[in-house]
Parts: sequence; C-alpha cells; structure tokens
Amino acid sequence: MGKIRIEGGRQLEGHISISGAKNAVLKLMAAALMAPGESVIHNVPKIQDVYTMIELLRTLGVGVSFTDHTLRLSVGEEVGEEAPHEVVRKMRASIQVMGPLLARLGRARVSLPGGCAIGERPIDFHIKGLAQLGAKIKEEHGYIYAEASSLIGADIQLDYPSVGATENLMMAATLAKGTTQIRNVAREPEIIEVQNFLNQMGARIRGAGTDVIRIEGVDGLSPAEHTVIPDRIEAGTYLIAAAMTGGRVTLEPIIPQHMASLIAKLREIGIKIAIDGNRICLQSTGRYRAVNFQSLPYPGFPTDLLPQTMAMMAVADGISVMKETVYSNRYKHVSELRRMGANILVADRTAVVQGVEHLTSAEVVVSDLRAGAALVLAGLAAQGVTIIEDDGHLDRGYDSLIAKMRAVGADMSLL
Ligand code: EPZ
Repeated sequence: MGKIRIEGGRQLEGHISISGAKNAVLKLMAAALMAPGESVIHNVPKIQDVYTMIELLRTLGVGVSFTDHTLRLSVGEEVGEEAPHEVVRKMRASIQVMGPLLARLGRARVSLPGGCAIGERPIDFHIKGLAQLGAKIKEEHGYIYAEASSLIGADIQLDYPSVGATENLMMAATLAKGTTQIRNVAREPEIIEVQNFLNQMGARIRGAGTDVIRIEGVDGLSPAEHTVIPDRIEAGTYLIAAAMTGGRVTLEPIIPQHMASLIAKLREIGIKIAIDGNRICLQSTGRYRAVNFQSLPYPGFPTDLLPQTMAMMAVADGISVMKETVYSNRYKHVSELRRMGANILVADRTAVVQGVEHLTSAEVVVSDLRAGAALVLAGLAAQGVTIIEDDGHLDRGYDSLIAKMRAVGADMSLL
C-alpha cells in the first residue's frame, strides 16, 4: 500500500459493507482443484492473498477469471503438482493445495512455509495426518514431497485444533478409500464453509463446526458454485474502530454468531450493540471500561482480533490483561503503539495494558496484517496526524480499507 496518512479524532458515522471471508475463500480456491470443470465462487474480496492464490492456481494450470467479486476457476483434466517457493513464501495458505493435489493426483510437492512475523507456524500436524491417510512424505531441499497411490480412510486425532490442518486433511480424505474421522478439529466458521463447498462438489462430510469431522470417501468430485460468507475479522476490525473513535456505524452483511465473542466483549466494556438479521449497529461515546482478553481457537476470542483489541484497550478506562495463546509472537505492534503513547507491558505471551487518556500521532511501521490493522485504529483515535508505513500487509486482508473508512468519515488517505 505505501504510506497512509490518518488525521485522528473524528467520529465514524455510517454504513460499511463487509466483504467475503479471506480465510474461507483461499481454501475454496484450493478445493476447486479436486474437480475437473468450472467452479464459480461469488463474493470474493479483492485482496492480495486472493491474487496470490490465483497466481498459484495458474502455475498449476488452472484457468482463472476474476471480475466483479466472482472467480471462475477452469480446472483441466491435468493439473500441476508443485506449489513453488516463490509463491508459498508470500502466503502460507498456499500449503492448502497439498491435500487437494494429493487426493486428485496422488502426489504433491509444496515448499515448506517459512515462519512469519507472528511466529514459527510449522506444518507438522498437516504432515502427520496425511501420513495417517497413507501418504509417503519426505522433506528435502525446503520442500515437502508427498505421494500416495491411493489414500486410505483413517482415524486421526489432531494434537491441536489447527485450522489449516483440519482443512487439508478434510480435503485429502474426501477422495480416500473408506471413512475418515478427524478428532480435535478446528471449529471456525471457515471450516464449515469448506465442508459445504466440498459437499456441493459431491463429497460426503459431516461434523464441521463440532470437534469431530467424519468423511466418507467418494470416487470423484464435480465443480460447484458458491457464495462466500462475510469476513468476521474484517467486520470485527471495523466494530473496534468505531468503538474507539466514538460514533455510530452499521455493518452489513455479517453473521452474528460468527462474532459472538467480540460482541460479548464490546457489550461488557459498555458499548451499545444492536443486531438485526445480518446487520449489526454499534454506538459508542468513545469511552469504555478495560476488561481482560485471552485469544483461543474458535469459538473463543479470535487471535486475529487481538492486536486491534489491544489498540482499543490502550485508551480504555483501567487496566487490561491480554493473553495470546495461539501464536508465539502476536505483539509486533506493541512497540509502535508505545510510540503513540500507549502504556503496555509485555511478558512472554501476556500484555498488561494501562489505558491512557488519548494516544498521540507518530510515524509507525506495519509488521504484519493484523498489527497493521491495530495501527490504523490507533491512528483513527489519536490526536494529530499519524503516518503508517505499510509495504503491502494491509492489502493482503482488507478489501478497499481506505475507501470504506473514508465513507464513514475517517480522514484517511494514501500518500
Ligand atoms: C489460520 O491460520 C488463519 N489463516 C489465521 O489467520 C488464523 O490466525 C489461524 O487460522 C488461527 O485462527 C488462514 O486461514 C489463511 P492454525 P493457520 O493451523 O491455519 C500451530 C489472518 O490474519 N501449528 O490453526 O495457519 C501454529 O504455529 C491469519 O487472517 C503447528 O504447530 O492456523 C499456530 O501457533 C493469520 N503445527 C497454531 O498452531 C501445524 O501443523 C494455530 O495454527 C499447524 C499449526
């Protein structure tokens, strides 16, 4: 994105449209690989990660057209088998093609994702599960080589409810011989989206959203057409922005139960929230109490909203203790928030945030997607002009961020 200029201190008023869910659509794009023909996905956000996944699918021989938020994926009888380093290093979610390629071709070559700003992020749970489905796996030259003449259904117990491992294994098991049960799975709404899309393609999957998913292997899949659910993290980011600046915003469409943990916390700190079907209205004076937060796998409080919530607690009345339990380094934004006057103490994965009267503007640098969101929110609430240096992180996950913010009164522009 470059440099963003924000003149803080303005209340947000108006209506914000919420885009399709990044963390669902990337997996549906991977799942489409499993069926020759044209799959169509609607309500696709125009974000960098979607373009990166398009780049990957094209290297695998898929014909892709992306217009007016609709993706048309033409998958041939032949697809490639490699997710190359230059794509995987840009986006960890590229590894989600491993399950589909293994199921479709019987082999996959995927570059090992490096760590990223928020932590090490290995893929051992993915590999262990694929091996249990009968894949032969080796790691060399920075790549995972997986092959299986045929995958066989298995009983898999995940060590941790990993979102990506749940999705990769669900997709691989779809074409395995026999039945697979995966226990201790992730329960995020995006997992249910992958199940629904695969079932529309002819898969036989049950249990997504609970902690056991059961997959009955089928011989083949057909293309499908699907509309992606709204992005609960984008919506949560905008709710927190309005809570901080004060004002009144309405977001639509949203799915309230996907945002239950955030809505409960906002109400707990004294923010007025009204829900009407797929619309949520937030009213805030800009002042609110401090409360404690702990990130957990869904339905717990989402780690992807913790940085934004820390910005909110930085100007709350009182002290907030925040604990990150998912990643090893979710606090890359703390030093930048401190430069804006925040009073934050971090010990390992716990942060103690002493609310201050107001933040002050500064020149700050974005380290990762959600840390960048936190700095935007801090700039909206701070006194003065904040300059945010961002080399493409925000574009990865927020469609039309500046336009959406300006439409509700933010003084925000690209320099
Ligand atoms: C997905 O990442 C999301 N990304 C993340 O959102 C989100 O933070 C995360 O789920 C948790 O909700 C996408 O869906 C594209 P995990 P994923 O596997 O699948 C460890 C955003 O900002 N782990 O549930 O990679 C891992 O290191 C992004 O939109 C292993 O140790 O998350 C992490 O500490 C950021 N071994 C924890 O589990 C493995 O094999 C959770 O990872 C896999 C994961």
